[in-house]
Amino acid sequence: MAQSKLLAMEEGGIVNNKIFIWWVIMTSMEANKEIKAAIFKVMAEAGLKKINFTLEKPNEAKQGDYAINIALTEFAALKEKFSAKTPFDLAKKIALRLKQVVASSVIEEIKAMPPGFINFHLSSRYLMNLMKTVLMEKENFGRCQNGEGKTVVIDYSAPNIAKPFGVGHLRSTIIGQALYNIYEFLGYKVIGDNHIGDWGTQFGKLIYQIEKKAQKLGLTTKKAKEKMINSLTIKQLEKLYVDFHRRADDQPLMEKQARAWFKKLEDGDEEAKMIWQILVASSMKEYEKIYDMLSIKIDFVIGESFYQEEMKKVLLETKKKNLLQESQGAKVIVIEGFETPAMLIKSDGATTYLLRDLATIKYRQRRWRPDLIIYETGADHKFHFRQVFAVAVMLNYIDKEKLVYIPHGMIRGLEGKLSTRQGKTIHLETVLEEAIKRAGRLADEAGIVKNLSKGQQKEIAKEVGVGAIKYNDLKQNPKTDIVFDWEKVLRLKGNSGPYLQYTGARCQSVMQKAKEKGWNLEGIKKEKLPSYQPNSAELSVLRETCYFRETIERAAFAFAPNLLAQFLYRLAKQYNCFYDNYRILQNKSQKDFFRLSLTAATAQTLENGLRLLGLATLEKM
Ligand code: ARG
Repeated sequence: MAQSKLLAMEEGGIVNNKIFIWWVIMTSMEANKEIKAAIFKVMAEAGLKKINFTLEKPNEAKQGDYAINIALTEFAALKEKFSAKTPFDLAKKIALRLKQVVASSVIEEIKAMPPGFINFHLSSRYLMNLMKTVLMEKENFGRCQNGEGKTVVIDYSAPNIAKPFGVGHLRSTIIGQALYNIYEFLGYKVIGDNHIGDWGTQFGKLIYQIEKKAQKLGLTTKKAKEKMINSLTIKQLEKLYVDFHRRADDQPLMEKQARAWFKKLEDGDEEAKMIWQILVASSMKEYEKIYDMLSIKIDFVIGESFYQEEMKKVLLETKKKNLLQESQGAKVIVIEGFETPAMLIKSDGATTYLLRDLATIKYRQRRWRPDLIIYETGADHKFHFRQVFAVAVMLNYIDKEKLVYIPHGMIRGLEGKLSTRQGKTIHLETVLEEAIKRAGRLADEAGIVKNLSKGQQKEIAKEVGVGAIKYNDLKQNPKTDIVFDWEKVLRLKGNSGPYLQYTGARCQSVMQKAKEKGWNLEGIKKEKLPSYQPNSAELSVLRETCYFRETIERAAFAFAPNLLAQFLYRLAKQYNCFYDNYRILQNKSQKDFFRLSLTAATAQTLENGLRLLGLATLEKM
């Protein structure tokens, strides 16, 4: 899949000499790449042209900063070359050779460990330099241009018109936006596309209901009708939809008439179009409020309705290629390996969601020529996208490996999965408002907003509350269901948004105090590195920091922002461990100078990472 293709670039090494060289020159500052290059070199000497390995992060500090197990996995292939009897013996011999090859300025020690691991220990000089890099690169620390020249389209959020923005769309919005930010940070051209659900047979049902309501109210003029429709809230529209399903169960005629309304809409009927347009405009207004609350702006809003002309083209092509078949009045494409064929046109002549997605791929391909299209949608779309992708490939619209579907699980614990049809959807606005309220209380109780104005307090409550919701989502693999627990979402200790923001604010306040004491913070990055040998708690903070750049890449290629969240949590923990045990601003010694630099670098790394996840950092908290 696309994932492996993108990864191959990074792991290319020996397989492709050119990439190998480019790699070493471009990224000599990154320890993991330095180590990988050394491994490829040593393996090439040993005649191993192709090698698969992962540079692991060991669990314990004494096992170093990186580890590999090639002496175990490649024992058979390498034992003769190194005249090794056991994997441990082999590990020792490889380690010896690696030591001669790797830059000693980066790696201080390479050790073999039974039964055959090789552990790499970063040098403190490297770590000190890394700290300086962070301070110099500031908001660009971690950024790279590896994605230059490549385009990624991310299809996310995509709520459905006339229905409330539910928690499912919240997940899509948060995860999709995090992926967007991450890819952009890696130099890709990223296009966010909000594929709003503004077309489909559900509009026939709504128009039917609205027409009935207008009749009941005796509204005859266009103006009076417009006014009435404009006054309908999403909640009321949702109720109309629910009502329809309740009543239609024993009134088959209603279904028929609703279908007829959608057909009219697709045929461009004025009345149907007028009603539909109002529904779209008023729903979008509601969604905008939520995007505002989330501080999210998606590049394009190209809803399903946009693809009417494109759908015709798709249909024409499928006919020309003799792929379209009649099946019980519907028009379908039989896909090899699928029991259910893909339906493009329903038996009543209406277009399908699937056809619109095919048209969308065709359009995106023409407009942006993407190297990758990522769909971030609920797990219930699995079958849909399997079909869409298969047909798109059949029609030669795009290569298979350029299509990626990243399903997200549900949020449980708010009230389980409740569908709109039952009319019990949890309204996102209510959840966000609740989060902000709770964040306000949290800050108040902890006494962290004591000296702030009401306005500042409100702003902080918003950033912390909304950030907590986002982080609660992003700290877990998108695929897993989230268990929503207010206590855990909003706590100052443990793996939560407020904890990370709080740690960032703690660093900021150290820097603020230093400024007040007359320290020259600007001087930090210009001057030479402090002549001070950091202790192990201090080095541990930098050891974590070292993983930042590679974590961002990994999060991108695995489509898993949770990897970045985990990184930030570990970094915050290391910093707090240092902070709790050492005094920082005592007497302007080299030691204090170092500690202040370490604090500034941590603040910066946290800020950069949180920004990618869509969380604000706060000066105060
Ligand atoms: N509107 C759809 C839903 O809420 C999600 C759309 C996902 N994107 C797509 N290209 N189909 O269920």
